[in-house]
Amino acid sequence: MIERTFVMIKPDAVGRRLIGEVIGRYEAKGLKLVGLKMQIVPKALAERHYAEHRGKPFYPGLLDFITSGPTVQMVWEGEDAIAVVRKLNGATNSREADIGTIRGDFGLTVQKNIVHASDAAQTAEREIALYFEPSELWDYSQPDEDWLQE
Ligand code: RTP
Ligand code: MG
Repeated sequence: MIERTFVMIKPDAVGRRLIGEVIGRYEAKGLKLVGLKMQIVPKALAERHYAEHRGKPFYPGLLDFITSGPTVQMVWEGEDAIAVVRKLNGATNSREADIGTIRGDFGLTVQKNIVHASDAAQTAEREIALYFEPSELWDYSQPDEDWLQE
């Protein structure tokens, strides 16, 4: 099924000049970029984004980290995009993430783990709406689409 998912390149990856590497993984897989922006996430927005983690021991550090510098927001579209992007990202702990995944290849920590991505259809819908206006998402076709859709 064609889905859309929300992805954020976190401050560590922006600071480490890895934006191109990360975007390249999703592009090479065959996903379509339908939304893109860059911002330092305001604290109130970060609190809404990560509301599910409020109260957990890592929550204050997570908020400090995610608001500590510029981030890149994206919406990617494609067959089973939500699960496919999670697989490309790898396990939350970068040291345990498989080599070949984004976190496995570029990360060394649990918190500074390069990327965020939605974990379910409902989450994707909520996160896309948090970061993007409908008018900031683009419907367009690409000439190789026949090879990338069931
Ligand atoms: P994300 O939401 O960022 O895509 O990552 P995830 O689903 O793989 O992990 P999640 O459990 O949702 O945690 C959100 C982010 O919080 C930081 N974290 N730190 N034990 C810890 O210190 C810890 N656990 C999680 C990570 O930055 C994780 O991506
Ligand atoms: Mg998560």
